[in-house]
Order: sequence, then structure tokens, then C-alpha cells
Amino acid sequence: MSLVANLFRALAVRLGALMAALGALARLAVIGGRAASSGTGTVGDRLKGALSEPAAQRLAFTALRGLLPNLLIGTRFITSYENTGTAIVTRFGDVKEVLARDGDFAVVYGPRMRMITGGRDFFLGIDDTPDYTRDVSVMRLAMRREDVESVVRPFAARRAAERVADTPGRIDVPAELSLRVPAELVGSYFGTPGPSRQDMIDWTTILFWYLFIDLNADPDVDARAVEAAGRLRAYLDATIARRKAGSPEPRDDVLGRCLALQASGTPGTDDLAIRNNLVGLLIGAVPTTSKAACQALDQLLDRPDALASAQRAARANDDAALAAHVFEALRFNPVNPLIYRRARREATIARATLRALTVPAGTMVLAANLSAMFDPLKLAAPEEFRTDRPWDDYILWGDGLHTCFGAQVNHALIPTILKPLLQKPCLRRAAGPAGRIDPGKTPFPVHFVVEFDAGPDMEAIP
Ligand code: HEM
Repeated sequence: MSLVANLFRALAVRLGALMAALGALARLAVIGGRAASSGTGTVGDRLKGALSEPAAQRLAFTALRGLLPNLLIGTRFITSYENTGTAIVTRFGDVKEVLARDGDFAVVYGPRMRMITGGRDFFLGIDDTPDYTRDVSVMRLAMRREDVESVVRPFAARRAAERVADTPGRIDVPAELSLRVPAELVGSYFGTPGPSRQDMIDWTTILFWYLFIDLNADPDVDARAVEAAGRLRAYLDATIARRKAGSPEPRDDVLGRCLALQASGTPGTDDLAIRNNLVGLLIGAVPTTSKAACQALDQLLDRPDALASAQRAARANDDAALAAHVFEALRFNPVNPLIYRRARREATIARATLRALTVPAGTMVLAANLSAMFDPLKLAAPEEFRTDRPWDDYILWGDGLHTCFGAQVNHALIPTILKPLLQKPCLRRAAGPAGRIDPGKTPFPVHFVVEFDAGPDMEAIP
């Protein structure tokens, strides 16, 4: 009996996915038609703009998931890393499969990482080798999981509350809150504040852009990245040398722990290795955290019920419930909607299914984690905003061997940055374009103004 019931359920979900795909195609056609017939700029630019909106991206993935879940295209969409063509993988199980099979689908970032470090790879660019295990292990000893509650959360809570208190009634979120807090955190917790906070923000932003987003090797991004990498290396070299000379005196921060490991003769902790590992962590930590905070807030502001419920959780100091709202909001617009890998050899994805796809060696495989998080074969009611989903439904910071090193930090840091803002009464977007995320000429939020009423803060609100 349960077999028959399961069969009907499975058919119903698949039929629903097919109907949703056809509906998505129709809606995309309407969006494309509107963009082509109105607005400024060329038709191509207008179409690109309209289709790069998160809601349009989700529609495109709904169409692909229902009709062509695993797709091989001869075109090389990414030209900044060597490849022979592109495959797009959209179902939850298949995205997980690609990220789990690091023996078949390798990280590609090596050449650009070596430009940044001026020599060796950083561990996100390294395959599953003894060097990888050594470097990750050393940095796990320096950046410990217990620090999340004892250092990261209290530090971020204090600084975020101060930033929001400094700007009564109106705040430009990236400029005044979401970039500042992680930059201040890495200054204090890593022991690497940079010559100035702004330098650290600028360097890590351009270097993240160069490594992960500059898919077509823009020469301007390249030139700015080369300059920023040189300055970051010089700053870290000088900081390491100063710390070893006793200035400031030994401190229990990430750099201090790396130097203590060096003094104890731990492998993989010479000055150069410490510098390269810190470069990777700094690039991963600052612009990503800010973008995540802005995009989560933006999604909440689009959903009055979810916003009200997130505000209740923030005011009740229910950090777990607040985090559930923030991560569910990020599901609708994650920082990385795609994670890419290159096939080391010919390989078949989703073997022995109707959607099985064999990709030739050298294919760049785009594992669409945004799409995966809307797959009705995995998630219940994926289009609904729900805060009771199992964590296993989310792929917000990678999966498999290279799952984000900062994953536990993210769980605490992003909601903590937003908490004092969400505690404010009548939180709303500023009027007009100011109240929308403005990336300027970058792929990161540069301005995003929200307003709130001056009113009682957390302690005063039940
Ligand atoms: C919202 C914030 C963040 C997002 C969205 C994010 C996203 C990601 C993603 C998608 C990956 C996997 C990349 C791949 O597999 O190709 C990754 C890896 C990584 N992230 Fe994050 N990250 C964030 C914050 C951080 C923080 C705070 C740190 C450091 C403190 C960090 C350090 C790293 C490192 C070192 C890796 C490579 C891990 C490895 O190779 O084993 N990230 N991150």
C-alpha cells in the first residue's frame, strides 16, 4: 500500500515540477519582453539586468530543473579559468554529488590563488592532499570552534549595537554596519587590522572578486587585484615580523596562535605559510559576510510577515530563531548561487537515472546551489518562507571537501550583525533607489539604506 502511495506522491511531485517549469518559462518570457521594450541602455543590457535579479534566476532554475536538470553546453562561459565547455547541474542530489566527488570534479582557483600569494596555493585551491590536510588542521588549531561563542558573537554583538546606536533612525547598511563589523572582527580576532579598516575592506573585496566572480578575466579587475595582493602580502609580512619581534606583546589571537605553533615546531607554520593561510581567511571573511547580511535583510524586507517574525525573535533574544529567519532569507538569494568545478576526466553525473549526464574531461561544471535549495524533490514547499527546515536543506557555503572554513562563524556572525537593526521598531527601506541594494560598479552591496523609528532598544522591548 505504501508503495502505491509513494508512487503517486513521487509522480505528483514530478508533475508539479514540470508544470512549475512551464509556468516559469512563461513568466521569464514576460519579464524578458518587458525589459526589452522599456528602460534605458541597450536591449542586451536591459535583458541581462532583468534576468540577473534573484527572482528571475530562481525562475530560470525552475525551468531547467523541470525540463533539463543536467545540461551540457559547448560554450565556455567562464574564461578566467581553463575549461573546454560548460555543464549546469540543478537538482539538489546532483549538486551534492558534484561537490562530494572531488576526485572527479576539482577546484580550479589555483592559478589565481598563486598570483595572490605570490607563490603557493591557499587551501581552497588545493586538492585532497597531505598539504591540504596540514594547512586546514593548522588553521583549525588557530581558529577554534569554541571562539565562535567566546569571541566572535560577543565582539560582533557589541560592535553592531554601537554602529546602529551611532546612526539613529537611518543607516547605510554595508558602509556603516555589515562591512565594518567583520573588518573590525578580523582586525581584533585575527590580529590583522590592516593599515586602516578601509584598506582591509578594499583589498579583500577586490581579491574575492578576482578569485570567484571575475569569470571573464576583466583586465581592470586583474590590475587592481595584482596591486591589492602585493599590498596585502607586504602588510602581513610586516605584521608577522613585528609580532615575532614582540610588538605588540604576545596575544591570544589567530596570528598569535599561528606563531605559537611555529615556535613549537608544528609543520606548515613558517612565516610564508602563515601569511598565505591568513590571506585566504581574510578574503573569505569580509566581503562575503557583508553581502550575506545585506541580501538576507533585503529578502526579509520583501516579506512583511517574515520580517515581523524575525524582529520578534531578535527582540526576544532568541538567537536560534533569528538565525533560522536569516538563513531562510539567504536561501532566496545566497551569496554564491553557483559553485564551479572542472571535470578532471570524463565523468557521469546522476548515473542510472533519466537525467544522467556524461561530461567530457575539462568541462566546467556549475553546481547550482541556489537551484538545489528550491528542488521540490528534496525540500517541502520550497517556494514558501519557512523557518523550520532541517539544516540539511541548505547549501549556503559550499559542500564536501571545500565546505566553507568559516561555516560556524557565519552561523553566529551574520544574524548577530543584523540583530540590533532588527530590534528597531518600524524597520523599513529608505524611499526610492536608496532603499535598494546598490552595488555601484562592483558585485557587492556598496549602499543600502534602511530606516527605523527612534524607540526603545532590546532591553525595553518584551
Ligand atoms: C557569508 C559568509 C560566507 C560565505 C557565503 C562563504 C562561502 C563559501 C563557499 C561557497 C565556499 C566553498 C567554495 C568552493 O567550494 O568552491 C567557501 C569556502 C571557504 N571559506 Fe567561506 N564563506 C563565508 C564566510 C567565510 C569566513 C567568515 C571565512 C573565514 C573566517 C571563510 C573562509 C573560507 C575558506 C578558507 C574556504 C575554503 C575551505 C576549504 O578549501 O576547505 N568563509 N566559503
